[in-house]
Amino acid sequence: MKKILVTGGLGYIGSHTVVELQESGYEVVIIDNLSNTTIEVLDKITSITGIKPEFEQIDLKNKKDVHQFFKKHTVDGVIHFAASKAVGESVEQPLMYYENNITTLTYVLQEMNAANVCNFIFSSSCTVYGQADELPITENAPTKPAESPYGATKKMGEIIIEDTSNVTDLRAISLRYFNPIGAHKTAKIGELPLGVPQNLIPYVVQTAAGIRECLSIFGNDYDTPDGTAVRDYIHVVDLAKAHIAALKRLLNNENKASCEFFNIGTGTGSSVLEVVKAFESSTGKNVNYKIVNRRAGDITSAYADTLLANRELGWKTELTLEDALKSAWKWQESL
Ligand code: WQD
Repeated sequence: MKKILVTGGLGYIGSHTVVELQESGYEVVIIDNLSNTTIEVLDKITSITGIKPEFEQIDLKNKKDVHQFFKKHTVDGVIHFAASKAVGESVEQPLMYYENNITTLTYVLQEMNAANVCNFIFSSSCTVYGQADELPITENAPTKPAESPYGATKKMGEIIIEDTSNVTDLRAISLRYFNPIGAHKTAKIGELPLGVPQNLIPYVVQTAAGIRECLSIFGNDYDTPDGTAVRDYIHVVDLAKAHIAALKRLLNNENKASCEFFNIGTGTGSSVLEVVKAFESSTGKNVNYKIVNRRAGDITSAYADTLLANRELGWKTELTLEDALKSAWKWQESL
């Protein structure tokens, strides 16, 4: 049985990936510092899969602890989710973001190298493309200057990983996520709400639940069919499964370069208004909304060309936008 370290394994995407790993026959050890989640998620994962993953409460900023971890555990690969991810907060506290997302990455890579662990999967983001010149976005689209320190950490992270893979045994796959949404079908794990949601789906769901009065739609004067901005919303369970496919590629020596990049999206763009309508029709819940000014830093349109991931990873999405929105609503109700 292959053993995989999942950093940030109690977070939103991490926890869904742990479930998929266990259900695919991998042994999992989680590192999490619980900065943006709770220990209860460990029990929720256990109740879904029937297997309690090993857990180490470690803050990756403590290099000694990272070192000790790799002395104690022998792992076949690392899926690295642990990072801060709030765009606005990163503008306010750039150094915190560079420390949380970049310093920690260098520690993990250094200790992997020292322990001869070669297989690495990185949580990257479509944010590296900025507003792409052509849609759908292929992996060959040029990266653009980051709009925020958060975005910069994803771009820099990819550079650090590729540079390292050029001169060490590191074999890495960087998955560039589009917009992950939804929750596990059991409604036992999902995105934990923390303060006022910044992202669209948590805001929609909380508005439908009466926690928020009204959704503000940021701009209806974009150059899109209905004027609202377009994104590629991917079900978090489909996204989790992409990590299993990437891991298999590395473990089976099927990778074609020491560092590879894949877009992980559905290939379909949906506008904000389309998402609101789809939420209403798939859940029967009403969402109050108003149109307000554009949000600073937002791009017009982004959706993935998924051909490379489909072909090379043998992976494709299985769930629809409606599935994702229904699961997000079920998760909200369970809270
Ligand atoms: C989607 C659309 C908003 C909230 C961000 C990060 C990205 C990432 C995912 C991180 C946009 C509109 C939103 C609201 C709205 N990765 N919107 N009203 O901006 O595409 O991506 O989150 O972990 O790096 O930049 O996602 O969900 O914030 O917004 O109208 O209250 O919904 O303007 O068009 P985004 P989002």
